[in-house]
Amino acid sequence: MSNKIQTLSGYIHEYAKSVQDPEHFWARIADSFHWQKRWDQVVDWNFEEPDVKWFTNAKLNITENIFERHLYTLGDKPAIIWEPNDPSEEVRTISYKELYGLVCQFSNVLKAKGISKGDRVIIYMPMVPEAAVAMLACARIGAVHSVVFAGFSATSLADRINDCKAKMVLTSDGNFRGAKKIAVKDVVDEAVEQTESIEKVIVLKRTGQEVSMKSGRDIWWHEAIDGVSTENQAEIVDSEDMLFILYTSGSTGKPKGVVHTCGGYMVYTTYTFQNVFQYSQGDIYWCTADVGWITGHSYIVYGPLLAGATTLMFEGVPTYPDAGRFWAICDKHKVNQFYTAPTAIRALQAYGTEPIEPYKLDSLQVIGTVGEPINEEAWHWYHDHIGKGRCPIVDTWWQTETGGVMISPIAGVTPTKPSYATLPLPGIQLAILDNDGKELIGNSVEGNLCVKFPWPSMLRTTYGDHERCRQTYFSSFKGYYFTGDGVKRDEDGYYRILGRVDDVINVSGHRMGTAEVENAINEHPKVIESAVVGYPHDIKGQGIYAYVICDMEGRSESNLIEEIRQTVTKIIGPIAKPDKIQIVPGLPKTRSGKIMRRILRKIATGETSSMGDTSTLLNPEVVEEIISGAQ
Ligand code: WTA
Repeated sequence: MSNKIQTLSGYIHEYAKSVQDPEHFWARIADSFHWQKRWDQVVDWNFEEPDVKWFTNAKLNITENIFERHLYTLGDKPAIIWEPNDPSEEVRTISYKELYGLVCQFSNVLKAKGISKGDRVIIYMPMVPEAAVAMLACARIGAVHSVVFAGFSATSLADRINDCKAKMVLTSDGNFRGAKKIAVKDVVDEAVEQTESIEKVIVLKRTGQEVSMKSGRDIWWHEAIDGVSTENQAEIVDSEDMLFILYTSGSTGKPKGVVHTCGGYMVYTTYTFQNVFQYSQGDIYWCTADVGWITGHSYIVYGPLLAGATTLMFEGVPTYPDAGRFWAICDKHKVNQFYTAPTAIRALQAYGTEPIEPYKLDSLQVIGTVGEPINEEAWHWYHDHIGKGRCPIVDTWWQTETGGVMISPIAGVTPTKPSYATLPLPGIQLAILDNDGKELIGNSVEGNLCVKFPWPSMLRTTYGDHERCRQTYFSSFKGYYFTGDGVKRDEDGYYRILGRVDDVINVSGHRMGTAEVENAINEHPKVIESAVVGYPHDIKGQGIYAYVICDMEGRSESNLIEEIRQTVTKIIGPIAKPDKIQIVPGLPKTRSGKIMRRILRKIATGETSSMGDTSTLLNPEVVEEIISGAQ
């Protein structure tokens, strides 16, 4: 814990050191880990290719740094506290020693079922400790996990399996989600049908619902582990070997597999976890994300466990059995650090303060947000009603690609400002560029958020397509990593994220590519063409607005709209379902045939009085028609 910043001047000092001599700075942090072989060079990089390596030629296993490094001192300490979907079901508390045994045992299972170093394993599971066990067991044997959020459709799952040619899927019979039971195994069966690489499917029994088990392919988890040793020697891997692939949406149609590697990811997630949340031994930390997202990877599993923390894992949803569930859990487990998404805060805010009243929330020390900009109103509500005016809010800005938090207050250290992610963490060298690529120096500037120096947990490539990684992140501004976000640096040098500047929309903190949603809509046989844009949504932050040209013959508009919604659910999953679908006679296009999204965005936002010049359009008349039918 010696790397913890405790004062503002301490932060300023650390930050300065991290910029003056990054190698020395990160070497000092990395020294607190257990390396089987030390590195030759701290960082070796080039943003043009891009080619980024941290702790070159160092050897390690990330799970040795969770277990072997801590067992001596923290063996009996709870590693995971699991709160089930149904509050009357028993809580599970798993100590470091027990988790170690479970991970070793499952590592042995994976090996026995044909998984070896470098093989890809898909994890499509509920929020249960076994999901963490699965991830860590892959890491322990040097296999590469790719967790897919269990709300994604069979088609999305199949696409991911095919993209990384995974050999195995780890899943469950079903998932509990509030009052619902989701037939997860059926989704896996349908997905695996569309793939060729899967050899085995291991199925955890969770809901007890009926499933079909394909002989020779499907194995029950409890049978697979039966009698298997709980000891396992970790595979020693290179610092730059792949740890995991996580698929995320971008501005092109197909989600890309963001690749993270072992050494740098380990160092950075631990360092940021300790500092941002100011975790102290004995604290109970809770992040409400799902392990299917990067937040779950870095700040439910890896960061906290590497730091020897107690991480709470919650299976359910914020409104089940009622809208006080989060607060009930905070009191029940005496949560000290609580980390959630603005969309959850806004959704709970809509229930008023009554659901909070039965709870004390007096154990809370730090409260955090992630995933999307937090509006001032939600920030104040969170601050006053949950943090009771005493807990600092850490508004953490980062991305799947950055691996860990990049801009955030350090709890209790950095003075906060509503809706500001505040200042970069040590090691993070930001740059704001105008659209011509000129770096804007000084304060009170606004532009494209970029990073000009590597940090240990940055993405290394996009799986199977390095050129795509270069194009997406390193080609817009030569020599910089481009985040895709717009940002303002105010008069105090504080950063406020303004949202995406590309064709990505952020729906309830989940990234959706507009092209991806359009492709799904276009799968409906009656759809001729579609265009999707984001618009401000009270709870979700952004909603999805789809303009669709259809062949209406023999169909009613309302039926067609419902069918399109179902098509999107089937192709991507319920999270991508458009909030509004407008059937339109045409889409505004430039003379070269490009859809003018700027106009569609204005219509969706209701800003129709400031449309700008539409006379250069191929079909200006269509604009009025769309406006008159807008929702
Ligand atoms: C947005 C989530 C404002 C941003 C960890 C980014 C935020 C995208 C914040 C990444 C924040 C994330 N304030 N916007 N504190 N945190 N974002 O990959 O647009 O799911 O580019 O990673 O979410 O989303 P992702």
